[in-house]
Amino acid sequence: MARPTVRSAHRSLVALAGGGKARPVGRVTLVGAGPGDPDLLTIKALKALQVADVIVHDGLVPAEILDLARSSARRIDVAKRKSRHTLPQDDINQLLVALALDGLEVVRLKGGDPFLFGRGGEELAACRTAGVDCTVVPGVTAALAASAGAGAPLTHRGSAQAVTFVTGHAAAKAGDWAEPDLDWASLARANQTVVVYMGVSTAAPISLRLIEAGRDAATPALIVENASRRDERRILTTLAGLPAAAQGLTGPALLMVGEAMAMANVQVPDLGLEVPRVQSMSPGQ
Ligand SMILES: C[S@@+](CC[C@H](N)C(=O)[O-])C[C@H]1O[C@@H](n2cnc3c(N)ncnc32)[C@H](O)[C@@H]1O
Repeated sequence: MARPTVRSAHRSLVALAGGGKARPVGRVTLVGAGPGDPDLLTIKALKALQVADVIVHDGLVPAEILDLARSSARRIDVAKRKSRHTLPQDDINQLLVALALDGLEVVRLKGGDPFLFGRGGEELAACRTAGVDCTVVPGVTAALAASAGAGAPLTHRGSAQAVTFVTGHAAAKAGDWAEPDLDWASLARANQTVVVYMGVSTAAPISLRLIEAGRDAATPALIVENASRRDERRILTTLAGLPAAAQGLTGPALLMVGEAMAMANVQVPDLGLEVPRVQSMSPGQ
């Protein structure tokens, strides 16, 4: 006899509660909402939004994008703020599965791309385990929007032969400060771009470790806050100047270190304002 799966068990429960008539199982679509500008949403993402019964979204998705969904679609905000998770990841996984098992067309809408520092893999795995159909719609990740907006290419002939996306999130505390566990020697090599997601609060250890590992302290560094949004802000500095430049940022921001970042246009075109250039600091400062 076949082993009961979560789906068949759930079907039995629904059947019992509903007098024997189970709704067909729904499905989950993990959708990348892009960096914020609704014009950067893919057509596939828009189509998914327009058929969804329920949208489970995080805090980086702006209202203009949520408003593209059917007005009848239920919205569930599972927003995560740093160290204040409103819903733990396991609960989000279970929620997606439960909604689909209830026969709903579920869109899990996430900022940027679901598979880039978005925990989309965990949600996909939970659906697979439960026997729920799950597909993924890619989104424009923040680094692509930040680089395009600033006119600073992530790779550039002669000055950026590679690009690496890393997380600045510090899982553990090392000595006096929390710092990310990264391969500093490899990231310190010249002529490559390092893009740090979630790195604002760890800008100081990141800058120090890269310089200690041999990256030139004068390497151009660009911070882009709220990329692609109306309140986008860019600060061009150096690797040594990153900690000072990152102070006081409140929106989502990327730290982008690399020779090609020198090409960044720090004019904000919509406002016609010059973004203040932060003075470079020597490594000891
Ligand atoms: C949990 S990660 C999600 C990344 C997302 N999946 C992506 O592909 O862009 C959140 C981090 O992404 C970066 N981020 C997201 N949206 C951004 C934006 N519009 N501008 C700058 N950085 C952004 C920030 O570093 C933020 O701390």
